Amino acid sequence: MMSFRSVALITSALTLSFAAIPVDADAQARRGAIGTNAGQDAAQPVQRPITFAAALPAAGGALVLPLASASDLATRAPTLDASDRAAIERALESAEFKYEARATLALRGIGSWGRVHVIGLGEEPDAARFQAAGAITGRALVSEEGALVVAANGLSTEAVSEFATGLGIGGYRSDFYRTADRDGAALGATIIVSDAGAEAQSLYLNRGRALIDAMTWVRDISNEPANVIYPETFVQRTRAAFAGVRGVSIQVLDVPAMERLGMGAILGVGRGSERPPRMLIVRYRGAGAPEGGPIVLAGKGITFDSGGLSIKGAENMGDMKMDMSGAASVTGAVLALARSRAPVNVVAIAALAENMPDGGAIRPGDVLTAMNGKTIEVINTDAEGRLVLADALSWAEANLNPAAVIDVATLTGAVRTALGDDYAGLFSRHDALAAQLETAGIAVGEPLWRLPLHASYASDMRSNIADIRNTSTGSGAGAGTGAHFIGEFLSREIPWAHLDIAGTAYGAANDWKPDGSAGFGVRLLERFVRDYQPVPRGEAED
Ligand code: BES
Ligand code: ZN
Ligand code: MN
Repeated sequence: MMSFRSVALITSALTLSFAAIPVDADAQARRGAIGTNAGQDAAQPVQRPITFAAALPAAGGALVLPLASASDLATRAPTLDASDRAAIERALESAEFKYEARATLALRGIGSWGRVHVIGLGEEPDAARFQAAGAITGRALVSEEGALVVAANGLSTEAVSEFATGLGIGGYRSDFYRTADRDGAALGATIIVSDAGAEAQSLYLNRGRALIDAMTWVRDISNEPANVIYPETFVQRTRAAFAGVRGVSIQVLDVPAMERLGMGAILGVGRGSERPPRMLIVRYRGAGAPEGGPIVLAGKGITFDSGGLSIKGAENMGDMKMDMSGAASVTGAVLALARSRAPVNVVAIAALAENMPDGGAIRPGDVLTAMNGKTIEVINTDAEGRLVLADALSWAEANLNPAAVIDVATLTGAVRTALGDDYAGLFSRHDALAAQLETAGIAVGEPLWRLPLHASYASDMRSNIADIRNTSTGSGAGAGTGAHFIGEFLSREIPWAHLDIAGTAYGAANDWKPDGSAGFGVRLLERFVRDYQPVPRGEAED
């Protein structure tokens, strides 16, 4: 590999002529190489390669011990040096280690291990628990030099694969524009020592790795600033991510195409920006997929939400670079499914626009016409996510004969107030669909909390001049009225659910992720689509 410095010299010459336009639009390729986004030299951190082994290598690097009880130590690492084992046993006892889920103990000075990292599994851990344990470990050891040796004997194929997947998810770094303090750490490989051997490895390679890569892609694109990620570069990143993946086709509607289709809502949102909007459609149909229409996943893709003329306050406005997280998650979920060749029929739609307040911007009071002919009175230009989704859902119904439609959006501050960052809001009139989403959320550790779509929201959204207004008159149910609005752009008989991820998509660092994007929804949607059981069409009550 070329050294950081020699490549940096070449790329800084390139940035002079290419200004802020990314020279290399592929986040995956840029990881481990050098990017020139934002006119800076940015070294993407290398992700540790994950390999599998049958026997414990000679001591060195960090030893990772996932334990559910004291007796697990001998099971996990039967060939561990006897004096190392005795030292670890003494340390666990004196720390009164409880083996509970998420409990960790970091030890130094044991034999020739640079570090011994014990992670508790709790009683009867399930798949999500193993993945979470891996993610916490990956995060704790993100800057640890040398190899990570995971002692995983006695764990099932699925447990090993989930733990490995978690390590990859937790090893994510978001500091890719930091130029200092970066080129020192030489990250070694992760070596999973397991008696589940080849089977665990192939499960991981077929599914876990695709999930890690998809989550990395989603988090990168959500964390990167809005001068780098805007509708056209979101499309470029998507094309790069799907290059060579079988069963996928990508369609992009540009402004003239959207004008021909009458997509006045997304065009209205994009009008105040120099960056033109796009509607991106990614179709994936795997071998063995069921007959009939696809599951449609539609995402809000506001690459920056200034509020438009209803401008936001300065405080934390920069976080609104993540307002395309829904679009990223739906695209990432399809990426994970396609890369692992899941036997499903699924379409991601990313409704991409930048919400800015220039002279061409829509005004409060303007009336827009969506693709399905419905007219919208814009009361507040900051309620823009529902506008871009109105055209995405109208297009889906007109073109895809969807079996079900799930939209995903960082839609409202109100859902954050209601549910914090523990749950995303779930809205649906189809109980069987809502139940499947809730089940998937629990299985992967991305829980949803169902909230109502009360009949009164229709009158809250009544306009004197148009079919509907884009904010409510005053019920106070900010998340619910937003959901109601989106649902008006799809026939009632189509099974539909709305996920408001404004509270869960992005936030401060915690024990499994750094500051920024959580990649929320990728695992949930991947699981939901795989396990999907047909939901009958038909009008559901309010
Ligand atoms: N993107 C925001 C919602 C948001 C806020 C996401 C905070 C994440 C964190 C959305 O476009 C918005 O501005 N919503 C308004 C709606 C209101 C004008 C009806 C809000 O929540 O205040
Ligand atoms: Zn927004
Ligand atoms: Mn907004």
